[in-house]
Amino acid sequence: MTKIKTVFVCQNCGYISPKWSGKCSNCDTWNSLLEEVQDTGKSQNKNTDVIKGNPTPIKEITEKNFSRIILPFSEFNRVLGGGLVPGSLVLVGGEPGIGKSTLILQTALQINKKIIYISGEESDGQIKLRADRVGISNDNCLIYTENNIEKIIATIEFSKPDMVIIDSIQTVYSHELTSASGTISQIKEATRQLQLFAKKNNIPIILIGHINKEGDIAGPMVLEHIVDTVLQFEGDSNYFYRLLRPKKNRFGSTYEIGVFEMKSDGLTEVQDPGNILLSAENTQLSGVAYGTLGEGARTLMLEVQALSSNAVYSSPQRSATGFDNRRFQMLLAVIEKRLGLRLAQKDVFLNIAGGIKVNDPAVDLSVVASVVSSYFDKIIKENTCFIGEVGLSGQIRPVAHIDKRVNEVIRLGFQKIFIASSQKKDVNKKNAEIISVSDINQFATKLFK
Ligand code: TYD
Ligand code: MG
Repeated sequence: MTKIKTVFVCQNCGYISPKWSGKCSNCDTWNSLLEEVQDTGKSQNKNTDVIKGNPTPIKEITEKNFSRIILPFSEFNRVLGGGLVPGSLVLVGGEPGIGKSTLILQTALQINKKIIYISGEESDGQIKLRADRVGISNDNCLIYTENNIEKIIATIEFSKPDMVIIDSIQTVYSHELTSASGTISQIKEATRQLQLFAKKNNIPIILIGHINKEGDIAGPMVLEHIVDTVLQFEGDSNYFYRLLRPKKNRFGSTYEIGVFEMKSDGLTEVQDPGNILLSAENTQLSGVAYGTLGEGARTLMLEVQALSSNAVYSSPQRSATGFDNRRFQMLLAVIEKRLGLRLAQKDVFLNIAGGIKVNDPAVDLSVVASVVSSYFDKIIKENTCFIGEVGLSGQIRPVAHIDKRVNEVIRLGFQKIFIASSQKKDVNKKNAEIISVSDINQFATKLFK
């Protein structure tokens, strides 16, 4: 008889505990432990036939498995590193309503391959409505509404498509587990089965995943570890622009950015996205500074807005939108300590215009510039841009792909560019004023000049 064992799994980090407690002892999240039934009578890895393996010398491995499938959106191909690698698992995450299903359906409808689009969220009628809305029809795209992973695997094993889409991974469940769909064990099990299928048949699978309010793919980080590529589809639903950004990519760079525009008839690619995130060109206000995100031809200009005002309460407020709050606190501490600004008596707010979230360290210098500008209520000269990471001791640190970024910034009309001194040699002679600074004290003396 199979022995059923109950364990408590943290829905945040996947930590397994034999007993319930209010707080996960691994990640300190409250109320995150959920009871789940684990069937210990069956092996989790059923593919373990004990036969001798056959390791291959690396030079004998041919590249045939890497002939990528080129998708219709070139922005999508760019983010994937040049197309979809057969046998790979790609996770596309994003907030509800941002356009994940639209992006993937449009991709599926415009490609000349046999595709199975499996939806656990919408009925086939709803998917057809969306396809009609984007105005494309494709006989090779099959729609299958199902939630049970065993049925899904059996179906795709049988019909051998060129590509599989699962919308969304949170709605899929395995009947071998008794916990509800969307829980960590269910998502892990479904992904494990899909991965086995993908690798065995060399068929790529795109998984759509929801993200939680913290911005992580809802449920487990474990999912992000299993898959080959994690893409975030993001933007503000009040704006039309959407960014597709790799968080992890086993087959390409994570500096790439794909830019789309959501229209009434679906998504279109944006060819020259440089300044789409700027609210108005070169706003002449204190507290506004410009920075960059990404590299090369896909360098996006960012508008960083800061507001510092006298604190109303005894503990001043610090709040950042679109920028990591802890990094913001760290930068404020560096400004306070190294520049002697009395920020402890100020409420300081930060906002990245355009409704996107940035985690590129190159944005640090523009954050510092905007806070200093707001503190002194002094306007930064127009057409100035800041590219650099700020370290704890106040030094300005180098960033990746500086020359490409500077070229793009100049192309977009900026004439004064602050960079780290250590990168001066990496920037070829330019048609603009390049100001190199080694630490934030030197930076502050040159900021309003
Ligand atoms: P959807 O792809 O369903 O988002 P997700 O799968 O990420 O939850 O997109 C839903 C939003 O996109 C919805 O608010 C309507 C909008 N939309 C358009 O603006 N134009 C379109 O052509 C389509 C299909 C959707
Ligand atoms: Mg959807």
